[in-house]
Amino acid sequence: MVYNFDEKINREGTESVKYDLRNNVFGKADVIPMWVADMDFRTPDFIREAVIERAKYDVYGYTFREDAYFEAIAAWIRRRHQWDVRKEWMTYTPGVVAAFNMAVLGLTKEGDEVIIQPPVYPPFFHAVESHGRKLVTNPLIDTDDGFIMDYELLEKQAKTAKMLILSNPHNPVGRCWTRDELKRLGDICMRNNVLVFSDEIHCDLVLPGHKHVPFASVCEEFAQHSLTAHAASKTFNLAGMATSTIIVPNEELRKTYVNFVESTEIHLGNIFGKIATKTAMEKGEEWLQQLLVYIQGNIDYVVDYINKELPKIRVHRAEATYMLWLDFSAYNLDNKELNHKMIFEAGLGLNNGKEFGKQGEKCLRINLACPRSVVAEAMKRIKEVF
Ligand SMILES: Cc1ncc(COP(=O)(O)O)c(C=O)c1O
Repeated sequence: MVYNFDEKINREGTESVKYDLRNNVFGKADVIPMWVADMDFRTPDFIREAVIERAKYDVYGYTFREDAYFEAIAAWIRRRHQWDVRKEWMTYTPGVVAAFNMAVLGLTKEGDEVIIQPPVYPPFFHAVESHGRKLVTNPLIDTDDGFIMDYELLEKQAKTAKMLILSNPHNPVGRCWTRDELKRLGDICMRNNVLVFSDEIHCDLVLPGHKHVPFASVCEEFAQHSLTAHAASKTFNLAGMATSTIIVPNEELRKTYVNFVESTEIHLGNIFGKIATKTAMEKGEEWLQQLLVYIQGNIDYVVDYINKELPKIRVHRAEATYMLWLDFSAYNLDNKELNHKMIFEAGLGLNNGKEFGKQGEKCLRINLACPRSVVAEAMKRIKEVF
């Protein structure tokens, strides 16, 4: 079956954050929304059909996740990422953001240091700072070959830190960390007893030619001192289902984490997220393969366009995710001017780079999970204004 990602789907008036909150976020209701990380593509039919089938049944009472649910996720991870996970290591949380907040709250103490690597997904900052933990930033280094980690600084920071939250692959810079990079990072963390929370929500959006390496699959020591977050939400456009899986191979650590999650009573979850996730894991391969080719096409389109028409914008070709990190430093605009120009002159709603850390003051993140015609229109507008 050939899926059509060129189709434009009207999402307005569906209480969509991306569309229906444009006025609140950008002060302009008609920007082309290329910000919050969900896709403008149809959630695959085989998932919609499974959800609709369940919705037809008369009762929507409490539910639980049966063995077959976790086995479907484990089988997907074993098949796609060659990590021999067991369903017994897995637990549910209502979203990955909730999961790393629970990890910070349940596995560190007030005042403990937690390391993150900006520019990075904004909720990483909040998860540390809003719970009275101390934020330690280990900024990525922008090289001509792409972003890399600062191991020297990490070596110093790890001496006193308790946890590191890793974005693997990295949002927003689109790096798919290699085994060697993860090994170097992990070795520093292990030597210093720093627990790693590996947020792998984008792991199934690794683009052709790259390979996702689950942090915990690098070696047994990493597996025993880490938690890994997986979800079908980004990959299959299910973010509104608030369903994710946390994998903790270490029994003692898992018990502590699960006890904490259960103490907050957020672990019951919803029926539809469960059905959608299980169906995605069982039937999603072919659709995903075509999606990745389409996203790669969008990324190539934008990177090639920028290199040719807008060479003052610095961009690296993403290895994973459907986002690109655009650096406008060469324009000498401050953060406010840059955003104002993009919103009110180009009519585009991109993420303000500042929210990903102060390194992003002169950057914007663009979401390319939309039809190619929309991408082309956006690039035309950026060219006209910049
Ligand atoms: C790195 C990362 N983690 C987590 C999330 C969101 O997770 P959830 O919707 O499951 O809370 C996102 C969404 O963009 C993300 O980029």
